[in-house]
Amino acid sequence: MRLTDGERAMLDGADGEAVAAAMDLLVRYGEVLGAERLVDTDNVCGANLFGSRHSLVCGSPTPDAAFSEHSLDAPRVLTIPPVRAQSYQLIGPMDTKHWQVQGLPQAEHDEIVASEKYSADHGIHLMNTCTPYQVGNVPVRGEHCAWMESSAVVYVNSVLGARTNVEGRESTGAAMLTGKIPYWGLHLEENRHGTHLVEVTTPVQSNRDWGLLGYWIGEQVQEEGIPVLDGITTTPDLVRLKHFGAAAASSGGVELYHVPGITAEARSVEEAFAGAAPRVRLRYGPDERRAAYERLNGTATDTSVDLVMIGCPHATLGQIRDVVRLLEGRRVHPDSELWVFTPRALRHIAEQNGYAQALEDAGAVLMSDTCPAIGQFLPKGTRVIATDSAKQVHYLPAIMNVQGWFGTLAECVDAAVTGTWQGVQP
Ligand code: F3S
Repeated sequence: MRLTDGERAMLDGADGEAVAAAMDLLVRYGEVLGAERLVDTDNVCGANLFGSRHSLVCGSPTPDAAFSEHSLDAPRVLTIPPVRAQSYQLIGPMDTKHWQVQGLPQAEHDEIVASEKYSADHGIHLMNTCTPYQVGNVPVRGEHCAWMESSAVVYVNSVLGARTNVEGRESTGAAMLTGKIPYWGLHLEENRHGTHLVEVTTPVQSNRDWGLLGYWIGEQVQEEGIPVLDGITTTPDLVRLKHFGAAAASSGGVELYHVPGITAEARSVEEAFAGAAPRVRLRYGPDERRAAYERLNGTATDTSVDLVMIGCPHATLGQIRDVVRLLEGRRVHPDSELWVFTPRALRHIAEQNGYAQALEDAGAVLMSDTCPAIGQFLPKGTRVIATDSAKQVHYLPAIMNVQGWFGTLAECVDAAVTGTWQGVQP
């Protein structure tokens, strides 16, 4: 790999041992990937919160040890300096307010709080969400980033036209300290052109429709392509594109897609393919939508719902308001729970707006900073969940051994109020 003089100096230890280790990791990583050089980045989103479960697994006795081992893959404990790049903490394992609802022991709470302080002291912004783009980190078109979290990566690549691969804890940790990331994959213009043309012949309007379409496309494309959607007749908003991308990144490994005329990099189908012919042509109609719906509801048979989960990816204020309005005059069933997840910053606004209180009054909980899949927690005895998120219903049954229903937000809120799933196939 070609290094600049400044990069070479970092590698040789001019900025200290930890920066040298970070640069060494990036060079090794980049060489495996075939990257010829590094690229500057000042926008890094990673995961650097460690609780007792993390320390237990890897036996890291101090925060420096945890960062050295988990985030730098270093062979020994280094003294970690403040980060160089603008760096952001993604979603983590704990809601600092409702950690007891999660069932976390005090000791784990204390460790995660200490870990947060360590991150803050090192200059890592505590966004604590899988949707940094909802709370102020909105990279511009062409900006080189280093982000983890597949649903966030596909959003910023596609909707905003920023450039990032799906990075890992180690590469983002190293990028935070150096402001560098290997220049390969989706950082390169030639790797951002469409490969699969998807002709959409059935209306795609609601959040559920976009989740179904994303889930079906991810299954078709897997990790090997960049879908281009033709036939979209309405303009989706942030929530719909968020659901779409998260679903496509779950059933497949979609990191970038184009909706000509809507997403950042293609005004037309021809432009999305840079003049080349599509490698694969697909058609999405009513049969394909039905198949995706059946697959997403394939784990569930029991209609008694123990938990309704809203906010995967983390909910906007608008989604929280919609839940509040759907609950108006009703209460969550005594045998069910309704948990809504949002970024920490949006929960603060939701509290100011009275939404958090309204949810609490109806027996629901507004949580932030985490989610059941990342934190691996559910109400005790949960056997059946329901959600409006294709991504969450894809993962939770597999991770937590529960049944999962997928439907609209209204169906989910009804399930929370009645304790019974009554969703209808579109
Ligand atoms: Fe975010 Fe958790 Fe869903 S990380 S995208 S809420 S699975």
